Amino acid sequence: MIKISPSILACNLADLKNECRDVLSAGADWIHFDVMDGVFVPNISFGVPVLAALSKKLEAFYDVHLMIKEPLNYIDAFADAGASMITFHVEADSNVERTIEKIHSRGLKAGITLNPDTDINCVLRYADIADMILLMTVKAGFGGQKFRPESIERIAAVAKSVPSGYLIEVDGGINRETARQVVAAGANVLVAGTAVFGAEDRAAAVASLRG
Ligand code: DX5
Ligand code: ZN
Repeated sequence: MIKISPSILACNLADLKNECRDVLSAGADWIHFDVMDGVFVPNISFGVPVLAALSKKLEAFYDVHLMIKEPLNYIDAFADAGASMITFHVEADSNVERTIEKIHSRGLKAGITLNPDTDINCVLRYADIADMILLMTVKAGFGGQKFRPESIERIAAVAKSVPSGYLIEVDGGINRETARQVVAAGANVLVAGTAVFGAEDRAAAVASLRG
């Protein structure tokens, strides 16, 4: 079963709780929460207090994507704020094993991710201690970018190296067409910002991503 995780970067942030509720009732599975620190990526989004406020008012599976320089230093804060899963970049400065251990010690699922130009072996070596691999299909930092077609081969290579049913998430430029391609290659969790929040009929958009 394909999971759909709408990225709130593309929602009306002034109405965050209702936007999240709306996509969940449109059939989405998770809420993708993009955290950017202006250092690891050249953009700043939102962070701990926003997640804490949201999760207090709306129960959901919060799929937190940390695009920050020192993820290990913020695991406790995001766990306290209501994260369900925390995914961090292998290109960041924190020790990967220790960060995964820390996430697990808080009872959360741990994901590892990498940018399109990073060798997939950098994450594959941690696949057995993590719960999910997130392949960025655009360079992390901004919503609304164009899907990078070379991602297809990378997804297929990851899918070949992990057990069946292992969570393989993709993020960036996912729409009805690219969704079909990434799912065929082996992805089973699709992040989509623009394609869901920008759609007039969000239920139809979620259903069409699922294929
Ligand atoms: C990019 C973010 C993505 C982004 C996806 O750095 O991690 O989650 O919001 O947006 P779309 O689906 O619009 O490409
Ligand atoms: Zn993301």
